[in-house]
Amino acid sequence: MHGRFTIEGFGRHVPERVLTNADLESIVETSDDWITTRTGIKTRHIAAPGEAASDLAAKACFTALADAGRPVEDVTQIFFATFTPDSICPPAACILEHKLGISGRPASDVSAACSGFLFAMDHAVGTLARKPDATVLLTASEVTSSRTNWADRATCVLFGDGAGAVVLSTREPKPGQATIRDIILHSDGSMWPLLTVKGGGSGWPLKLGETVKEDFFIEMNGPEVYKNAVRSMGQVCEEIVEKNGLKMDDIDLFIPHQANLRIIEAVGKRLKFFGDRVMVTVDRYGNTSAASVAIALADAKLEGRIKPGAKVLLTTFGGGFTFGAALLEFV
Ligand code: UT7
Repeated sequence: MHGRFTIEGFGRHVPERVLTNADLESIVETSDDWITTRTGIKTRHIAAPGEAASDLAAKACFTALADAGRPVEDVTQIFFATFTPDSICPPAACILEHKLGISGRPASDVSAACSGFLFAMDHAVGTLARKPDATVLLTASEVTSSRTNWADRATCVLFGDGAGAVVLSTREPKPGQATIRDIILHSDGSMWPLLTVKGGGSGWPLKLGETVKEDFFIEMNGPEVYKNAVRSMGQVCEEIVEKNGLKMDDIDLFIPHQANLRIIEAVGKRLKFFGDRVMVTVDRYGNTSAASVAIALADAKLEGRIKPGAKVLLTTFGGGFTFGAALLEFV
Protein backbone atom coordinates (compact mmCIF):
# COMPACT_ATOMS: atom_id res chain seq x y z
CA MET A 1 0.00 0.00 0.00
CA HIS A 2 1.35 3.44 -0.89
CA GLY A 3 0.91 6.37 1.49
CA ARG A 4 0.40 6.83 5.19
CA PHE A 5 -3.00 5.94 6.65
CA THR A 6 -3.28 6.68 10.35
CA ILE A 7 -5.86 5.48 12.86
CA GLU A 8 -6.00 8.41 15.25
CA GLY A 9 -8.75 7.26 17.61
CA PHE A 10 -10.67 4.18 18.69
CA GLY A 11 -14.12 3.79 20.26
CA ARG A 12 -16.78 1.26 21.00
CA HIS A 13 -20.21 1.09 22.55
CA VAL A 14 -22.40 -1.83 23.59
CA PRO A 15 -26.00 -1.46 24.73
CA GLU A 16 -26.82 -1.71 28.43
CA ARG A 17 -28.99 -4.83 28.48
CA VAL A 18 -27.09 -8.09 28.99
CA LEU A 19 -28.61 -11.39 27.87
CA THR A 20 -27.06 -14.38 29.65
CA ASN A 21 -27.07 -18.03 28.66
CA ALA A 22 -29.45 -18.61 31.59
CA ASP A 23 -31.84 -16.04 30.05
CA LEU A 24 -31.70 -17.96 26.76
CA GLU A 25 -32.60 -21.19 28.55
CA SER A 26 -36.03 -19.65 29.15
CA ILE A 27 -36.43 -18.65 25.46
CA VAL A 28 -35.33 -21.80 23.55
CA GLU A 29 -34.36 -25.37 24.41
CA THR A 30 -30.68 -24.84 25.17
CA SER A 31 -28.28 -24.83 28.10
CA ASP A 32 -25.42 -22.76 29.44
CA ASP A 33 -23.28 -25.87 29.09
CA TRP A 34 -24.07 -26.34 25.34
CA ILE A 35 -23.54 -22.66 24.51
CA THR A 36 -20.32 -22.42 26.54
CA THR A 37 -18.77 -25.62 25.19
CA ARG A 38 -19.79 -25.11 21.54
CA THR A 39 -19.23 -21.35 21.28
CA GLY A 40 -17.45 -19.91 24.35
CA ILE A 41 -20.20 -17.28 24.65
CA LYS A 42 -21.45 -16.41 28.15
CA THR A 43 -23.24 -13.09 27.60
CA ARG A 44 -24.22 -10.76 24.78
CA HIS A 45 -25.59 -7.18 24.84
CA ILE A 46 -28.98 -6.46 23.29
CA ALA A 47 -30.23 -3.06 22.10
CA ALA A 48 -33.24 -1.48 23.84
CA PRO A 49 -36.50 -1.23 21.87
CA GLY A 50 -36.09 1.63 19.40
CA GLU A 51 -32.29 1.68 19.73
CA ALA A 52 -30.95 1.40 16.17
CA ALA A 53 -27.51 0.74 14.67
CA SER A 54 -26.96 4.50 14.19
CA ASP A 55 -27.59 5.13 17.93
CA LEU A 56 -24.89 2.64 18.95
CA ALA A 57 -22.61 3.97 16.21
CA ALA A 58 -22.99 7.60 17.35
CA LYS A 59 -21.77 6.72 20.84
CA ALA A 60 -18.81 4.73 19.50
CA CYS A 61 -17.96 7.58 17.09
CA PHE A 62 -17.95 10.26 19.80
CA THR A 63 -15.62 8.06 21.87
CA ALA A 64 -13.30 7.56 18.88
CA LEU A 65 -13.27 11.29 18.12
CA ALA A 66 -12.49 12.12 21.77
CA ASP A 67 -9.70 9.53 21.72
CA ALA A 68 -8.31 11.21 18.59
CA GLY A 69 -8.69 14.66 20.20
CA ARG A 70 -10.75 15.79 17.22
CA PRO A 71 -13.99 17.78 17.13
CA VAL A 72 -16.75 16.17 15.10
CA GLU A 73 -16.61 19.13 12.68
CA ASP A 74 -13.24 17.81 11.45
CA VAL A 75 -14.93 14.77 9.86
CA THR A 76 -15.06 15.04 6.07
CA GLN A 77 -16.47 11.59 5.18
CA ILE A 78 -18.34 8.74 6.89
CA PHE A 79 -18.39 5.01 6.14
CA PHE A 80 -20.81 2.78 8.05
CA ALA A 81 -20.39 -1.01 7.91
CA THR A 82 -23.51 -2.97 8.82
CA PHE A 83 -25.95 -5.65 7.73
CA THR A 84 -28.57 -4.27 10.12
CA PRO A 85 -28.93 -0.61 9.03
CA ASP A 86 -31.73 1.42 10.64
CA SER A 87 -33.62 1.21 7.31
CA ILE A 88 -33.08 0.08 3.72
CA CYS A 89 -33.22 3.76 2.73
CA PRO A 90 -31.75 6.17 3.75
CA PRO A 91 -28.27 4.81 4.50
CA ALA A 92 -27.57 4.47 8.23
CA ALA A 93 -24.50 6.64 7.61
CA CYS A 94 -26.75 9.62 6.74
CA ILE A 95 -28.85 9.14 9.88
CA LEU A 96 -25.60 8.90 11.83
CA GLU A 97 -24.28 12.11 10.27
CA HIS A 98 -27.43 13.89 11.46
CA LYS A 99 -27.15 12.39 14.96
CA LEU A 100 -23.52 13.55 15.13
CA GLY A 101 -24.75 17.10 14.48
CA ILE A 102 -22.92 17.61 11.18
CA SER A 103 -24.08 17.74 7.58
CA GLY A 104 -22.83 17.95 4.02
CA ARG A 105 -20.23 15.19 4.35
CA PRO A 106 -20.46 12.20 1.99
CA ALA A 107 -21.88 9.39 4.13
CA SER A 108 -22.55 5.86 2.90
CA ASP A 109 -23.06 2.31 4.12
CA VAL A 110 -20.80 -0.64 3.33
CA SER A 111 -22.42 -4.07 3.22
CA ALA A 112 -20.02 -7.00 3.62
CA ALA A 113 -21.69 -8.88 6.49
CA CYS A 114 -19.29 -9.74 9.33
CA SER A 115 -16.32 -8.53 7.24
CA GLY A 116 -17.81 -5.05 6.90
CA PHE A 117 -15.28 -3.27 9.12
CA LEU A 118 -12.30 -4.26 6.96
CA PHE A 119 -14.17 -3.69 3.68
CA ALA A 120 -15.13 -0.20 4.92
CA MET A 121 -11.54 0.39 6.07
CA ASP A 122 -10.47 -0.35 2.50
CA HIS A 123 -12.93 2.32 1.26
CA ALA A 124 -11.54 4.74 3.85
CA VAL A 125 -7.96 4.12 2.72
CA GLY A 126 -8.99 4.63 -0.93
CA THR A 127 -10.61 7.93 0.02
CA LEU A 128 -7.52 9.08 1.92
CA ALA A 129 -5.28 8.10 -1.01
CA ARG A 130 -7.29 10.41 -3.29
CA LYS A 131 -7.95 13.11 -0.67
CA PRO A 132 -4.97 13.32 1.71
CA ASP A 133 -6.60 16.17 3.67
CA ALA A 134 -9.66 14.06 4.48
CA THR A 135 -10.65 12.92 7.97
CA VAL A 136 -12.67 9.73 7.69
CA LEU A 137 -14.98 8.45 10.39
CA LEU A 138 -15.41 4.70 10.03
CA THR A 139 -17.93 2.84 12.11
CA ALA A 140 -19.21 -0.73 12.20
CA SER A 141 -22.45 -1.10 14.11
CA GLU A 142 -25.03 -3.86 14.36
CA VAL A 143 -28.34 -4.51 16.00
CA THR A 144 -28.23 -8.20 15.07
CA SER A 145 -31.11 -8.78 17.50
CA SER A 146 -33.40 -7.09 14.95
CA ARG A 147 -32.68 -9.96 12.54
CA THR A 148 -32.46 -12.78 15.06
CA ASN A 149 -35.03 -15.58 14.95
CA TRP A 150 -35.62 -16.08 18.67
CA ALA A 151 -37.23 -19.46 17.94
CA ASP A 152 -34.08 -20.82 16.24
CA ARG A 153 -31.71 -22.09 18.93
CA ALA A 154 -28.96 -22.78 16.39
CA THR A 155 -28.53 -19.05 15.70
CA CYS A 156 -30.20 -16.98 18.44
CA VAL A 157 -27.59 -17.89 21.06
CA LEU A 158 -24.72 -16.66 18.89
CA PHE A 159 -25.28 -12.99 18.14
CA GLY A 160 -25.11 -9.69 20.02
CA ASP A 161 -25.41 -5.96 19.40
CA GLY A 162 -22.69 -3.30 19.51
CA ALA A 163 -20.60 -0.76 17.63
CA GLY A 164 -16.96 0.14 17.06
CA ALA A 165 -15.46 3.20 15.41
CA VAL A 166 -12.13 4.63 14.27
CA VAL A 167 -10.96 8.03 13.01
CA LEU A 168 -8.62 7.93 10.02
CA SER A 169 -6.38 10.50 8.36
CA THR A 170 -2.98 10.77 6.68
CA ARG A 171 -1.44 12.69 9.62
CA GLU A 172 1.78 11.62 11.33
CA PRO A 173 0.75 9.07 13.99
CA LYS A 174 1.20 10.03 17.65
CA PRO A 175 1.95 7.56 20.47
CA GLY A 176 -0.98 5.19 20.92
CA GLN A 177 -2.09 5.66 17.32
CA ALA A 178 -1.57 3.19 14.47
CA THR A 179 -0.85 3.13 10.77
CA ILE A 180 -2.53 0.70 8.39
CA ARG A 181 0.26 -1.17 6.66
CA ASP A 182 -1.93 -3.33 4.42
CA ILE A 183 -5.43 -4.66 3.81
CA ILE A 184 -6.31 -7.78 1.78
CA LEU A 185 -9.93 -8.65 0.97
CA HIS A 186 -11.61 -11.63 -0.72
CA SER A 187 -15.13 -12.78 -1.53
CA ASP A 188 -16.53 -16.11 -2.72
CA GLY A 189 -20.07 -15.56 -4.01
CA SER A 190 -20.59 -19.26 -4.75
CA MET A 191 -21.08 -19.78 -1.01
CA TRP A 192 -23.78 -17.13 -0.52
CA PRO A 193 -26.66 -19.50 0.39
CA LEU A 194 -24.83 -20.73 3.50
CA LEU A 195 -25.39 -17.55 5.54
CA THR A 196 -28.28 -15.27 4.69
CA VAL A 197 -30.82 -12.64 5.76
CA LYS A 198 -33.04 -12.52 2.68
CA GLY A 199 -36.56 -11.39 3.52
CA GLY A 200 -37.35 -7.77 2.65
CA GLY A 201 -34.64 -7.62 -0.01
CA SER A 202 -35.62 -7.15 -3.69
CA GLY A 203 -35.04 -10.86 -4.35
CA TRP A 204 -37.39 -11.81 -1.51
CA PRO A 205 -39.83 -8.88 -1.36
CA LEU A 206 -42.44 -8.54 1.35
CA LYS A 207 -45.98 -7.59 0.39
CA LEU A 208 -48.16 -5.19 2.34
CA GLY A 209 -49.91 -7.00 5.18
CA GLU A 210 -47.76 -10.13 4.82
CA THR A 211 -46.18 -11.49 8.00
CA VAL A 212 -42.44 -12.10 7.97
CA LYS A 213 -41.16 -15.64 7.42
CA GLU A 214 -38.01 -17.35 8.73
CA ASP A 215 -36.00 -15.96 5.81
CA PHE A 216 -36.42 -12.44 7.25
CA PHE A 217 -33.94 -13.49 9.94
CA ILE A 218 -30.38 -14.87 10.04
CA GLU A 219 -30.28 -18.37 8.51
CA MET A 220 -27.01 -20.28 8.60
CA ASN A 221 -25.51 -23.65 7.84
CA GLY A 222 -23.38 -23.53 11.01
CA PRO A 223 -20.93 -26.40 10.38
CA GLU A 224 -20.18 -25.30 6.77
CA VAL A 225 -19.71 -21.68 7.82
CA TYR A 226 -17.45 -22.87 10.64
CA LYS A 227 -15.14 -24.84 8.30
CA ASN A 228 -14.91 -22.03 5.76
CA ALA A 229 -14.30 -19.42 8.46
CA VAL A 230 -11.32 -21.34 9.83
CA ARG A 231 -9.84 -22.01 6.37
CA SER A 232 -10.42 -18.53 4.92
CA MET A 233 -9.17 -16.50 7.89
CA GLY A 234 -6.12 -18.77 8.13
CA GLN A 235 -5.34 -18.32 4.42
CA VAL A 236 -5.77 -14.56 4.25
CA CYS A 237 -3.65 -14.06 7.38
CA GLU A 238 -0.83 -16.12 5.87
CA GLU A 239 -1.19 -14.13 2.65
CA ILE A 240 -0.92 -10.68 4.28
CA VAL A 241 1.95 -11.62 6.61
CA GLU A 242 3.96 -13.15 3.76
CA LYS A 243 3.20 -10.28 1.35
CA ASN A 244 4.60 -7.83 3.91
CA GLY A 245 7.81 -9.80 4.42
CA LEU A 246 6.90 -10.80 7.98
CA LYS A 247 6.57 -13.99 9.98
CA MET A 248 3.71 -14.90 12.34
CA ASP A 249 6.24 -14.47 15.19
CA ASP A 250 6.44 -10.75 14.30
CA ILE A 251 2.76 -10.26 15.15
CA ASP A 252 2.20 -9.04 18.71
CA LEU A 253 -1.58 -9.30 18.85
CA PHE A 254 -4.05 -11.29 16.73
CA ILE A 255 -7.61 -9.92 16.61
CA PRO A 256 -9.85 -12.32 14.67
CA HIS A 257 -13.58 -12.04 13.98
CA GLN A 258 -15.39 -12.98 17.18
CA ALA A 259 -17.93 -15.60 16.05
CA ASN A 260 -17.08 -18.63 18.14
CA LEU A 261 -14.21 -19.37 20.54
CA ARG A 262 -13.61 -22.73 18.80
CA ILE A 263 -13.14 -20.94 15.45
CA ILE A 264 -10.74 -18.43 17.08
CA GLU A 265 -8.75 -21.28 18.65
CA ALA A 266 -8.67 -23.31 15.42
CA VAL A 267 -7.36 -20.34 13.39
CA GLY A 268 -4.97 -19.50 16.24
CA LYS A 269 -3.64 -23.05 16.22
CA ARG A 270 -3.04 -22.96 12.45
CA LEU A 271 -1.20 -19.63 12.72
CA LYS A 272 0.41 -20.44 16.11
CA PHE A 273 -1.25 -17.66 18.10
CA PHE A 274 -2.04 -18.69 21.65
CA GLY A 275 -2.82 -17.11 25.02
CA ASP A 276 -2.04 -13.40 25.38
CA ARG A 277 -1.34 -12.97 21.67
CA VAL A 278 -5.03 -13.54 20.84
CA MET A 279 -7.78 -11.02 21.63
CA VAL A 280 -11.02 -12.70 22.73
CA THR A 281 -14.26 -10.80 23.40
CA VAL A 282 -16.79 -13.33 22.08
CA ASP A 283 -17.38 -14.59 25.64
CA ARG A 284 -18.90 -11.25 26.68
CA TYR A 285 -20.38 -9.82 23.47
CA GLY A 286 -21.21 -12.87 21.29
CA ASN A 287 -20.91 -12.34 17.54
CA THR A 288 -21.54 -8.65 16.80
CA SER A 289 -20.95 -9.22 13.06
CA ALA A 290 -19.26 -6.24 11.35
CA ALA A 291 -18.70 -4.58 14.73
CA SER A 292 -16.84 -7.52 16.26
CA VAL A 293 -13.25 -6.71 15.23
CA ALA A 294 -13.84 -2.96 15.67
CA ILE A 295 -15.02 -3.52 19.25
CA ALA A 296 -12.21 -5.98 19.99
CA LEU A 297 -9.64 -3.49 18.67
CA ALA A 298 -11.00 -0.71 20.91
CA ASP A 299 -11.10 -3.08 23.90
CA ALA A 300 -7.53 -4.21 23.25
CA LYS A 301 -6.45 -0.56 23.47
CA LEU A 302 -8.57 0.13 26.56
CA GLU A 303 -7.14 -2.94 28.32
CA GLY A 304 -3.54 -1.97 27.54
CA ARG A 305 -3.02 -5.04 25.36
CA ILE A 306 -1.30 -3.01 22.62
CA LYS A 307 2.22 -1.82 23.43
CA PRO A 308 4.17 0.89 21.52
CA GLY A 309 5.56 -0.56 18.30
CA ALA A 310 3.10 -3.47 18.28
CA LYS A 311 2.11 -5.14 15.04
CA VAL A 312 -1.55 -6.14 15.15
CA LEU A 313 -3.22 -8.54 12.72
CA LEU A 314 -6.98 -8.23 12.17
CA THR A 315 -9.03 -10.80 10.27
CA THR A 316 -12.72 -11.14 9.45
CA PHE A 317 -15.08 -13.64 7.87
CA GLY A 318 -18.76 -13.36 7.04
CA GLY A 319 -21.73 -14.02 4.79
CA GLY A 320 -21.08 -13.78 1.07
CA PHE A 321 -18.64 -15.27 1.83
CA THR A 322 -16.48 -12.22 2.49
CA PHE A 323 -13.16 -12.35 4.30
CA GLY A 324 -10.09 -10.24 4.83
CA ALA A 325 -7.12 -9.23 6.92
CA ALA A 326 -5.45 -5.96 7.89
CA LEU A 327 -2.04 -5.29 9.34
CA LEU A 328 -1.67 -2.37 11.78
CA GLU A 329 1.50 -0.91 13.27
CA PHE A 330 1.19 1.05 16.51
CA VAL A 331 3.44 3.93 17.50
O1 UT7 B 1 -19.89 -14.51 11.78
C1 UT7 B 1 -19.74 -15.53 10.86
C2 UT7 B 1 -20.89 -16.38 10.92
N1 UT7 B 1 -21.04 -17.33 11.96
C3 UT7 B 1 -20.14 -18.27 12.34
O2 UT7 B 1 -18.98 -18.21 12.05
C4 UT7 B 1 -20.67 -19.43 13.12
C5 UT7 B 1 -20.14 -20.71 12.55
N2 UT7 B 1 -20.67 -21.92 13.13
C6 UT7 B 1 -20.58 -22.24 14.44
O3 UT7 B 1 -20.07 -21.50 15.23
C7 UT7 B 1 -21.07 -23.59 14.88
O4 UT7 B 1 -21.31 -24.39 13.74
C8 UT7 B 1 -22.36 -23.51 15.74
C9 UT7 B 1 -22.04 -22.93 17.10
C10 UT7 B 1 -23.41 -22.67 15.05
C11 UT7 B 1 -22.94 -24.92 15.97
O5 UT7 B 1 -21.96 -25.76 16.55
P1 UT7 B 1 -21.74 -27.23 15.96
O6 UT7 B 1 -20.76 -27.89 16.83
O7 UT7 B 1 -21.38 -27.05 14.51
O8 UT7 B 1 -23.14 -27.90 16.17
P2 UT7 B 1 -24.18 -28.47 15.10
O9 UT7 B 1 -24.78 -27.37 14.29
O10 UT7 B 1 -23.51 -29.59 14.35
O11 UT7 B 1 -25.28 -29.06 16.06
C12 UT7 B 1 -24.99 -30.11 16.98
C13 UT7 B 1 -26.24 -30.42 17.77
C14 UT7 B 1 -27.49 -30.58 16.94
O12 UT7 B 1 -28.26 -31.63 17.51
P3 UT7 B 1 -28.25 -33.11 16.87
O13 UT7 B 1 -28.76 -32.89 15.46
O14 UT7 B 1 -26.82 -33.54 16.91
O15 UT7 B 1 -29.16 -33.83 17.77
C15 UT7 B 1 -28.22 -29.27 17.10
O16 UT7 B 1 -29.64 -29.40 16.96
O17 UT7 B 1 -26.52 -29.34 18.68
C16 UT7 B 1 -27.88 -28.95 18.54
N3 UT7 B 1 -27.99 -27.52 18.83
C17 UT7 B 1 -28.19 -27.04 20.07
N4 UT7 B 1 -28.37 -27.65 21.25
C18 UT7 B 1 -28.54 -26.88 22.34
C19 UT7 B 1 -27.86 -26.48 17.97
N5 UT7 B 1 -27.98 -25.32 18.64
C20 UT7 B 1 -28.19 -25.64 19.94
C21 UT7 B 1 -28.38 -24.90 21.11
N6 UT7 B 1 -28.54 -25.54 22.28
N7 UT7 B 1 -28.38 -23.54 21.10
